[in-house]
Amino acid sequence: METFQTLLAKKLADALTAAKLPNAGELTPASDARFGDYQTNAALVLAKQRGENPRNVAEKILGRVDVGDLCEPPTVAGVGFINFTLRAEAVAKKAAELLQDERLGVTKTTSTRKIVIDFGSPNVAKPMHVGHVRSTVLGDALARIAQFFGHEVIRDNHIGDWGTQFGMVIYGWKNLLDRQSLQRDPIAELVRIYKETNERSTKDPSVREACRQELVKMQSGDAENLSIWKQCVDLSMGDFERAYKLLDIHYDIQRGESFYNDRLPKVVERLLKSGLAEISEGAVCVFFRDIPELADKPCIIRKRDGGYNYATTDVATVDYRINDLKADTIWIVTGAPQILHFKQIFEIARREGYKADFRHITHGSILGENRKLMKTRSGDNVPLRELLDEACARARKIVEEKNPDLSDTEKIDIAQKIGIGAVKYADLSQYRMTDYVFSWDKMLSLQGNTAPYLQNAYVRIRSIFRKAGETQTKIDQLVLAEAAEINLAKLLCQFAEVVPQVLNDFRPNILANYLFELANSFHTFYEACPVLKSEEPARSSRLALCDLAGRVLQRGLDLLGIKVPEKM
Ligand code: ARG
Repeated sequence: METFQTLLAKKLADALTAAKLPNAGELTPASDARFGDYQTNAALVLAKQRGENPRNVAEKILGRVDVGDLCEPPTVAGVGFINFTLRAEAVAKKAAELLQDERLGVTKTTSTRKIVIDFGSPNVAKPMHVGHVRSTVLGDALARIAQFFGHEVIRDNHIGDWGTQFGMVIYGWKNLLDRQSLQRDPIAELVRIYKETNERSTKDPSVREACRQELVKMQSGDAENLSIWKQCVDLSMGDFERAYKLLDIHYDIQRGESFYNDRLPKVVERLLKSGLAEISEGAVCVFFRDIPELADKPCIIRKRDGGYNYATTDVATVDYRINDLKADTIWIVTGAPQILHFKQIFEIARREGYKADFRHITHGSILGENRKLMKTRSGDNVPLRELLDEACARARKIVEEKNPDLSDTEKIDIAQKIGIGAVKYADLSQYRMTDYVFSWDKMLSLQGNTAPYLQNAYVRIRSIFRKAGETQTKIDQLVLAEAAEINLAKLLCQFAEVVPQVLNDFRPNILANYLFELANSFHTFYEACPVLKSEEPARSSRLALCDLAGRVLQRGLDLLGIKVPEKM
């Protein structure tokens, strides 16, 4: 289905052709609603190119533009912008069409891709901390949206299950492990032995050396160390799975770093053989002498002691995703500190001749109220599981206050939707590169740009339908008279314009902020326009608008990975 934006862009292109002018400029939503719904800078761009007066060019275009069925007569404003205001009848017609459309106007892409998206990717024997929330929540939303457009998406959890931390974990396991604590809270115990070993090894070189030995032993296949490793992986995975269940996150594959282990020697051999890598001070490195920003930053793919590292694994991972999984697009979602690493990895891939579209999708940090990286009081990372439990507990209080008569199972279900939704939305409503302060009060507030506010708008709509005793609307004609209902309908028509923008620069916040605007517009409508108490045909038409608003809110939030309760 065509959006108003694409329809108007076509009409504009036709007018330019008719006026014997080249296609130029853009047709965008109006920057200020007072001037209309859409605007174009075509006249400005053309006037500049041709050294003419922009208002004259604008008049020339207006003389040819044929938008009578869609818009009021277009106007020229300011230095030469052309403004378009949609006619209420055109909006009503489009909204009625959207009511019949499962996809709410969003068309599938015609050029589908096979995308591997690597997101979340926590590390074993360390708790998944809030930093991983961002990558997990962002990656999940992007995967959902890509899928909605019809792309083939493979969600891959690139778990850190083979890194150098295992030297310390195994040393700690052998020397410090408390079996009872391990049974009670395995992750806490793993973290404890890891931290304690880390402390010891910074003070005592012999401990450091012992850890290194344990790592080498594990990597060369020592049965005891491998069995300890395996137990740690299993325990951590169990912990991750619980968090994923709560978060409603799923992966298609989970190829951790260990999966690539036996491919690493071949990667290094190959790069040496092709001349892309060279030996430098005993290590095997790839240099990027022709790229100024990387010129003094070689990528080490085999250390002097013969060990492989994070980069070696990522080169092998590129091979696997392209050759085995047949991906043509690779998205990797991590924090900004890995920017340099992936610049190097993608450059190596290009030099090896890979043609895939590689994107490193980075994000900022989550800060505590003190504006420093979010930590617990003792200075540790905040474990994700505790955070999610707290979110649900706090949301439960809100439900108790708002709706004490609900059954216990309902309360649990609703609290989970609100609590988890709030955590996700707090993240997704920010531009991904911005650091933001984690605040329970703010994210769980029923007012403002929060998940509960949006969920509440949806719940209000559902309650209208419960009162009406109707489940769906069955009309094919809307009548829009009041400003509040026209505005709401216009916004609903924009859903299909907004969703595609998210993938341009991987910005779910564009969708989140649109939904916030929509919820605001719905509330204004709800205050201004009685629904069930109004006369026909307004009653049915308004019910239909409510129906559409509920569906757009639900679908939009679903694309962000957020669920809506029916009551709250
Ligand atoms: N485990 C890494 C971390 O916690 C993220 C892995 C990202 N993916 C990759 N292919 N390197 O920072």
